[in-house]
Amino acid sequence: MTDLRNLPAWRELGALAADVGRARVDSMFEADPERAERFTLSAAGITLDYSKQRVDSQVMGALVRLADQQQVDVVKQALFAGGIVNNSEGRAAWHVALRRPDDAPLHAGVHEVRAAMGRFVEDVRHGRWLGYTGAPISDVVNIGIGGSDLGPRLVCDALAQLRQRIHCHFVANVDPSDLDDTLMRMDPERTLFIVTSKSFGTAETLANAEVARQWLIDNGASQADVARHFVAVSTNEKAVREFGIERMFGFWDWVGGRFSLWSAVGISIALGLGMETFDALLAGAHAMDDHFETAPLADNLPATLALLGIWNNNFLGLPTHVVVPYAQRLAALPAFLQQLEMESNGKSVTRDGQPTRVETVPTVWGSVGTNAQHAFFQMLHQGVLAADVDFVLPLSDAAHGDDDRERQRVANCLAQAEALMHGRDHAALMDELIAEGLSGERLEHRLAARRFDGNRPSSMLVMDRLDARSLGALLAAYEHKVFVQGVIWNINSFDQWGVELGKTMAGQLLGELDGSAASVAHDGSTRALLARVRRRWAGRD
Ligand code: F6P
Repeated sequence: MTDLRNLPAWRELGALAADVGRARVDSMFEADPERAERFTLSAAGITLDYSKQRVDSQVMGALVRLADQQQVDVVKQALFAGGIVNNSEGRAAWHVALRRPDDAPLHAGVHEVRAAMGRFVEDVRHGRWLGYTGAPISDVVNIGIGGSDLGPRLVCDALAQLRQRIHCHFVANVDPSDLDDTLMRMDPERTLFIVTSKSFGTAETLANAEVARQWLIDNGASQADVARHFVAVSTNEKAVREFGIERMFGFWDWVGGRFSLWSAVGISIALGLGMETFDALLAGAHAMDDHFETAPLADNLPATLALLGIWNNNFLGLPTHVVVPYAQRLAALPAFLQQLEMESNGKSVTRDGQPTRVETVPTVWGSVGTNAQHAFFQMLHQGVLAADVDFVLPLSDAAHGDDDRERQRVANCLAQAEALMHGRDHAALMDELIAEGLSGERLEHRLAARRFDGNRPSSMLVMDRLDARSLGALLAAYEHKVFVQGVIWNINSFDQWGVELGKTMAGQLLGELDGSAASVAHDGSTRALLARVRRRWAGRD
């Protein structure tokens, strides 16, 4: 494969970065009254306004040519056809197949699992599936981690206003306090555990599931009763049976963990919010899939998100990407995107085993507005490290417009994006400080401390409303963004070999701590830390 840096479009973008990339966006707005419309796209209930990015039509044209030269459209066809896009594991990454409507031709099994899931959900929600004392289920605890946690957790939080009767809880961490604190609030007679694990081999999940099972027994359930309180979601039927769970909802190896919320992994969403909400989520994602599959790259919302990311990271040298949803219910979005983007594209070798030679995924992080304004926005405005920001702004119903807090939410979101672009105008600030009575050295110091240049890029993603459809569309857009970037960087976005070594080493250390494995040679630091832990556990420290 050609070195990416030798592609004509890559070179063109390099030259543009030294020119357009340094120009001021506020001046571009002055020169082009149509700029906002020119750089706004809408699809499936999501509007992307990227006019505050440091781009112009030339840059966008060159980015589209880069995507063409890397054959994004060709690989996209393979993605949608269920081709082997995950080459290191010889698998498809066919999450789009999970959200096709029921009347579309579906992969064998998708219909069946969706129907079985629907029946189970209805039984639980209508009190036909009862706990071991005959009480209806009131709480669902999803035990799973990574992709078996983050997606369903995000959706259940985001659409909490649709919750009826059944409350969903999520336990991911192997730290005992995660499960213990949750169990403290549960009634064993009315609690259903969903053990979600694609591999059914994730140590943290299995350890938590064991403790949950024992908790039921300690609270009076028999071994046989436990079956009414445990279901599994997995691709590994054998391991589920060995664990002793009878009721299982399957999925397939062509569903990557971080792309799996659309499968039975999303069963907690359906249990908590209703199957119709889960269906609407799928429909929203499918609408975005349709757009992504058919819209030309220049008008394609997910592809544009990807291209902007490449421009900011590879050409403007911004190594960090911040996501700030202005919606408390989307507080889990940054964590979801961290896994989606960094586990997918945190790679430094190409699909053919060569060093990438260019930057791949930036660090992805964020938090909700307005809280984030009182935490890290100082750095975004005046820090040395400049970031590229996605603001996510769900619109609310007209009735909320009467609420001052709602107006503040919207005003703050728009203000931060505007401030990042404009910065603090030098002349106006000087007038202000002089009016405050400052002069001489004090004026100079204050001026230096308070001014900032702005021209920091951001995009605004407006959701028509925070409902299941728009949320499905938003998450699908980010999934496709990740895919397009992976194709351009020529990396495999669908494996995650980097997380394996730590898991193996944790297994060895666990064995040493519980005495089941002989010690192996460790570095001095690990040896000392192990000794310290042992002293504490022996009550000697
Ligand atoms: O962190 C690695 C990982 O394999 C993720 O890709 C995955 O989402 C998570 O662990 C959980 O895996 P599983 O669903 O197999 O328990």
